Amino acid sequence: MKKFIENLPKAELHLHIEGTFEPALMFEIAQRNKIDIPFKSVEEIEKAYQFSCLQDFLDIYYQGAGVLIHEQDFYDLTYSYLKKCAEQNVRHTEIMFDPQTHTERGIAFETVINGISKACKDAEENLNVSSYLIMSYLRHLSEEDAFKTLKQSLPFKEKIKAVGLDSSEMGNPPSKFKEVYKASVEEGYIPVAHAGEEGPPEYIWEALDILKIARIDHGNNALKDPDLVKEIVKRDLAMTVCPLSNTALQVVKDLKNHPLRKMMDLGLKVTVNSDDPAYFGGQVNKNYIEIQKALDLTQEDLYQLAKNSFKYSFLPSDIKQKYLLELKNYYKSWQ
Ligand code: ADE
Ligand code: ZN
Repeated sequence: MKKFIENLPKAELHLHIEGTFEPALMFEIAQRNKIDIPFKSVEEIEKAYQFSCLQDFLDIYYQGAGVLIHEQDFYDLTYSYLKKCAEQNVRHTEIMFDPQTHTERGIAFETVINGISKACKDAEENLNVSSYLIMSYLRHLSEEDAFKTLKQSLPFKEKIKAVGLDSSEMGNPPSKFKEVYKASVEEGYIPVAHAGEEGPPEYIWEALDILKIARIDHGNNALKDPDLVKEIVKRDLAMTVCPLSNTALQVVKDLKNHPLRKMMDLGLKVTVNSDDPAYFGGQVNKNYIEIQKALDLTQEDLYQLAKNSFKYSFLPSDIKQKYLLELKNYYKSWQ
């Protein structure tokens, strides 16, 4: 099974670039930028990565991102993740980045987007991994702040595919960002949002009806509302599920209790993703491997999950078909 997963062609649809910051690279960049971080060793970092909820994690995640200063830092971070994609047979990835985490510290939007997008371009040429960028608004900040970010992004519009919503969910419902999502869509960005990771089903309803999202990030709490599940199925919206993130942030108790199998049985279009792999103990393949073991998923289930990852990506349909055919041939070769 492990080998089947490792070579399975797949796309990753839920990944925060700031969440790919491995301790070794963090130390290296901190040192070259002469920034102190409150950890002396990889062991100390690993000890700090014990979270009881989303906010616990976010506090450490924003602190780590604080060592990123120059375009080269953003390039190195992104290229390092894209190399891991190539190693895992991730053929396409849709990467979230949080501009406000950096602009709030006085880093220019341009520095962030140029570093990330240059790495994406180089990876497409050298590693055969394609990527899109999802600019995510931080929901703990105001809608006015999000509007500023939208404005800053416009000169770089052709480098950005979609807008997302992340950070502290409780108390920051999707409706808070109604106008900025409307404006973002008018600018040509596809809307997605984190919803129902810790927040109630009502937040998912708002993301659907008010933000009019094309894909749901997480969405676990949809299962508390059967009408919502029906509506998500009816609208054919995919959910980007992140098993190891869910256990690390105690959204689910353990993988044996993970609702992924149930979601699939209900007809929900589920994909498997890593979210913040440097913080949650595993890249996307580890997420597939661990959830397969915990829920005893079959090769056919894994094939379905990988199919969803291409089908519900934002790739144009001819490229999707190309990847889906490659995947089908791979699956057949194992039967
Ligand atoms: N930012 C990075 N990872 C996140 C997550 N899992 N939920 C909300 N915001 C995030
Ligand atoms: Zn996320």
